[in-house]
Amino acid sequence: MDEKRKLKEKIQKWLEVPQEEVLIENPKNRTMGDYAIPCFPYAKKMHKNPLEIANFLKEKLENAYEKVEVVNGYVNLFLPKKKWTQKIIEEIIEKQESYGNFEPNNKQIVIEYSSPNIAKPFGVGHLRSTVIGEALKNICKKAGFSVYTINYLGDYGTQFGKLIYAYKTWGNEEEMKNHPIDELKRVYVKFHEEAKENPLLEEEGRRYFKKLEEDDLECLHLWQWFREESLKEFQKTYDLLGINSFDSYTGESYYKDKMEKVIKELEEKNLLEKSDGATIVSLEELPPALIKRSDGATLYITRDLSAVFDRKEKYNFDEILYVAGNEQILHFEQLKRIVEKMGYPFWKDIHHIGFGLILKDGKKMSTRQGKSVKLQDVLEEAVGLAYQYVEEKNPNLENKEEVAKKIGVGAVTFNDLKNYRMNDIEFHLEDTLRFEGNTGPYVQYTYARINSLLENRKGIEISYDEIEISESIWNIIQRLNNFKETILSAKENYDPSYIAKYLLDLCSDFNHFYAKERIIDGFDNTTEFKCNLAYATSIVIKEGMRLLGISVINKM
Ligand code: ARG
Repeated sequence: MDEKRKLKEKIQKWLEVPQEEVLIENPKNRTMGDYAIPCFPYAKKMHKNPLEIANFLKEKLENAYEKVEVVNGYVNLFLPKKKWTQKIIEEIIEKQESYGNFEPNNKQIVIEYSSPNIAKPFGVGHLRSTVIGEALKNICKKAGFSVYTINYLGDYGTQFGKLIYAYKTWGNEEEMKNHPIDELKRVYVKFHEEAKENPLLEEEGRRYFKKLEEDDLECLHLWQWFREESLKEFQKTYDLLGINSFDSYTGESYYKDKMEKVIKELEEKNLLEKSDGATIVSLEELPPALIKRSDGATLYITRDLSAVFDRKEKYNFDEILYVAGNEQILHFEQLKRIVEKMGYPFWKDIHHIGFGLILKDGKKMSTRQGKSVKLQDVLEEAVGLAYQYVEEKNPNLENKEEVAKKIGVGAVTFNDLKNYRMNDIEFHLEDTLRFEGNTGPYVQYTYARINSLLENRKGIEISYDEIEISESIWNIIQRLNNFKETILSAKENYDPSYIAKYLLDLCSDFNHFYAKERIIDGFDNTTEFKCNLAYATSIVIKEGMRLLGISVINKM
């Protein structure tokens, strides 16, 4: 990556063109070189034909590379393979997990993710927000940013009025103590069933929400209890996913008495309008945003508005990322537009990191009343299945439970992160757990394989003069060299799938090499070199998996 950037700077200088116009490609077919510079884009501006430009560049670059060729208006550059191989392997082994780190850049990113809703099960939908957010956190840190994470709990809103009424009417304390979320869900579902017959219940719900807003002690107490119990349940899921903590758990309720400030500012800026008794902000090309209902109750977006200013003030972010499903696209568009209309340029730094649904057999695996799929169950099933595999493959393995947990949870996480986040993803437990194919276990397996391979090495000094750099070795080196660039792409597109795909490619490069060239073949210089190559590969696999929030396994 550094090499590419240096090259870019040189070309920019020589051709006197802006940096963003300089193109350097990595040819798919490596016989075309390690880098290729197309010269036709400059022809018009420079009043020269591409061939002339290519020859000019060739002359300038000839000394720095092993070979420089001009082909069809391209300059193809070949790196000195031996020197590079040595340089990259040694750099990785020296830097270990900090290989690929960017210098700190003094920029602050707030990432809001996971954000499950109190009194509701942690569903598979929240899995996506959680694993994408966690990966983005690691990626942004690696890319040199300071990161502050927020779990914006859904712990407020009119539904809590319904819930309080429902619990008071149908709740069972014993059940609530043993299975809080199930019990809360049960009474909430009951509320909706009854409300179909008896519309007066909606009125009761509103009444209780009003009481909650006015800090009625009994309501407040119940709400707090629901919140605490829910958090305890969520923590079980976080523990299983290996997510230890967020910097803040400030949820929607934190803003319950802080919304007036922003509402007043909207008023002063003449942005509020009345519509059928409700208070709205008109947004031209978007549907209007509802700020207050006719009964005075505030809404989801009112709290988000209040929150975004609070966060700007507290963390002075350069960017804020909201990791939430694609069904909230409009909501975040409205949020941005309102901030823009209020005259704050930081509206441009608000990014909704959307994602698609998790589908099972083409249908939404949803959390709608009653039919919800709990993430905890999915994860436990995955771990159970992984345990069976371990039992079959390697019954004598130590700490089988621990290994099964890492495989099962890693498989579900990897399956989620390997696709471009905006796409819907299909979920088939068996497929995500396959050891061959584009899966988490495949990457973990490659890592474990390298690990056991390295057990027998001798640790002799390597002389690179005698080493032959075959095509499959060079492929691995090139891939390792691209790690930093991949991290940057993942950050710029806010998309962990760049890392997941990179790891699959790296593993496939390595397994290809391993199948073709024997590694442990006596203990000579070449063996030692190949062991080092394998070791460097394993360091990058481990670090890449860490970025995705997935553990590797030493033995499996
Ligand atoms: N709790 C919300 C939900 O489950 C997600 C919160 C998204 N973030 C936000 N700032 N609105 O749908």
